[in-house]
Amino acid sequence: MIIANFKSNGSKEMIDCWVKDFKSQIQDNVASVGVAPPHIYIDKFYKSISQNDLENIKIGAQDVGAGSGPNTGSISSAMLSDLNCNFSIVGHSERRKNFKEDNALIKQKIENLISFKLTPVLCVGESLSDFEEKKTYTTIRMQLEECLKNISIPEDIIIAYEPLWAIGSGKTPSPNDVNQINEYIKDVVQSTTSNNYTPKVCYGGSVNVENAGSFFKCSNVDGALIGGASLDGKKFALIANKFNRNN
Ligand code: 13P
Repeated sequence: MIIANFKSNGSKEMIDCWVKDFKSQIQDNVASVGVAPPHIYIDKFYKSISQNDLENIKIGAQDVGAGSGPNTGSISSAMLSDLNCNFSIVGHSERRKNFKEDNALIKQKIENLISFKLTPVLCVGESLSDFEEKKTYTTIRMQLEECLKNISIPEDIIIAYEPLWAIGSGKTPSPNDVNQINEYIKDVVQSTTSNNYTPKVCYGGSVNVENAGSFFKCSNVDGALIGGASLDGKKFALIANKFNRNN
């Protein structure tokens, strides 16, 4: 799966331009494509892809609340489902850092998404200091265990490995390193969850048209979560084309 995370970017006009640009370049399978616009543009995005015969693109949210009711400003899984969403990103490092979200809250969000039959896209990854202190594997293990312990996960769950130092920096780990870490993630999830399911694992962090192919060739890289390069519909379609050619 190739997922666009627009983050806090976009406008009504941008969404219409993006969909036209994407359509002009995409070659075939849009079923492997997911897009997470800001919540407030999810319905606009849905209408725009429907008008352009691209309704097979999966729509998701960048985050979700842990439930509904008295939680001012929060968006619930029920609302995402009502707006034709298929998935929600949870545990993005920007949510962990800027909104002080911890693994216990992220676990609640995952359980709530699952109860509404929405696909969780769980982000994990190490900080620069963890990376420098060679704590990548221990950090990731802790995040996965605390977010997924004893949960029965759906077969379509996606884990996104996003090293914090690679996000928006133009730097990336080598494809070989990502491949090994993704394999480790699959093993940890398999042994942590109650149904012992092995998930799909994507890579995210400074993926662009030039470097995407080198990640897609790796056997344990099942897709990408893309920020900056996803804001241009043409570039994002070129990355999706590369993914589809490799699979
Ligand atoms: P960039 O692709 O801009 O590095 O962002 C990655 C990311 O955070 C996707 O969720």
